[in-house]
Amino acid sequence: MRLIRGTGTRIGSTAKLLIIAFWMSSVYFTYFYTSKHSLASSGVQSHHSRQINSARPWHEYTYQDKAAAYDKSMPLVFIGGMPRSGTTLMRTMLDAHPDIRCGQETRIIPRILGMRANWLKSAKERNRLEEAGVTNSVINDAITQFILEVIVKHGHPAKYLCNKDPFTLKSSKYLRELFPNAKFILMLRDGRATAHSIISRKVTISGFDINSYRDVLNKWNRAIESMYSQCQEIGQDVCLPVRYEQLVLQPMAETRRILAFLEIPYNPAVLHHEKYLSNISLSNVEKSTDQVQRPLYLDALSSWFGNIPQDVARDMAQIAPMLRTLGYDPNDPHPKYGEPDELVLNNTRQVNPNVNNQNSNLVLGDNSRL
Ligand SMILES: *[C@@H]1O[C@H](CO)[C@@H](O)[C@H](O)[C@H]1NC(C)=O
Ligand SMILES: *[C@@H]1O[C@H](CO)[C@@H](O)[C@H](O)[C@H]1NC(C)=O
Repeated sequence: MRLIRGTGTRIGSTAKLLIIAFWMSSVYFTYFYTSKHSLASSGVQSHHSRQINSARPWHEYTYQDKAAAYDKSMPLVFIGGMPRSGTTLMRTMLDAHPDIRCGQETRIIPRILGMRANWLKSAKERNRLEEAGVTNSVINDAITQFILEVIVKHGHPAKYLCNKDPFTLKSSKYLRELFPNAKFILMLRDGRATAHSIISRKVTISGFDINSYRDVLNKWNRAIESMYSQCQEIGQDVCLPVRYEQLVLQPMAETRRILAFLEIPYNPAVLHHEKYLSNISLSNVEKSTDQVQRPLYLDALSSWFGNIPQDVARDMAQIAPMLRTLGYDPNDPHPKYGEPDELVLNNTRQVNPNVNNQNSNLVLGDNSRL
C-alpha cells in the first residue's frame, strides 16, 4: 500500500516537474519568438536577442563569417576526370596557392548529382514531381544549396573555393547551369596508364571490373567521352582540359596556363606543393594511394608499359577510341609524352644525382610505397 502510494507520489511530482518545464519552455519560446519577430519588424536589436547570440558557441561565428561571402555566383573551381588521372595532384597544387582551397573529396557531391539524374530518368516520376510542385527549378535550387553548403563548410574559408570529386565532371554542363561563374578543370591521362593504376592499386569504382583491363579501358572510354564532350560544349573559357603527362613534365608552363585560365594571380607555391603539405589536408586514403608527397613523379608515366594483356593491346583502338581522339596512339606500347622542364630535371637530380639529362628514363624510385 505504502509502496504503491509512494510510487504514485513520485509519478505525480515527476509529472508536475514536466508540466512546469514544458510551461517554462513554451513561455521562453513565445518570448524568444516574439522578440525575434519584433526585432525583424522594428529593425532594432533588442538586449534580449543579443544575450541569446552571445551564448552561442564560438564556432557558429566562424560559420557566419564563411556565410557572409558565399552564393551561387561565386567563382568556384571544379576539378574532375577519371580517378587515377592526376585529380589529386591538381587539387594539391591549387591547395598550395594561398588564395585557393579545394580540400579533400567530399564524396557526397557526385552522389547528389547522381540521385538527381535518377529522379529525372523516368517520365512518370518527373510528372509526379511536377504535379507535386517539385519542379526543376525547385530541385535545382535545392541541389545548388546542398553543393554550396558542402563546399563552403567542409574546409577553411578562402578567396577561391574549389572542389575535387572526380566524377562531378560528368555533370559539368548541369553544374555550369547551377553556378554561372564556375570553371572546370578536366584531367586527362593516357587511359592505359589510368587502367593500370586502377588495376594494380585495386581502386574500386562502382561498375568497374578491376580484374579486367578490357572492362576498365572500356569504362574509361565511356566516362571520358562524356566528360570531354561536355567540356568542349561549355567552352574553352569555362572548361580547361589538362593532361596529367603535361602537368608532370612541364609543371612551370602548365601551372601558369591553369592559373591564367582561372583568372587567379600566379603564385610559385603551386610548384612546391610538397612543402605545404602541413597546410593541405590529405586524407589517409589519399596519402596511401597517391604520390602527392613527392616533388614529382615521372615514373608514373611509364609504369604501365608491358602490363597490358596482349589481346587487349591488339584491340586497343576499338576498346578505347578516345585514346586517339585525345592524341594518344593506341598502337604505341611505349609512348614518349614529352620532355621534362628545368624544374623537373633539377628535382630529379636532387633525388637521384646520377640522372643523365639525355636519358629519358628518369625514374624516381618505387611509387608503390606511397
Ligand atoms: C601555412 O600555414 C601557416 C600557419 O598557419 C601559414 O603561416 C602559412 O602562410 C600557410 N601557407 C600557405 C601556403 O597557405
Ligand atoms: C635548376 O638548377 C639550376 C642550378 O642549380 C638553377 O640555376 C636553376 O634556377 C634551377 N631551375 C629551376 C627552375 O629551379
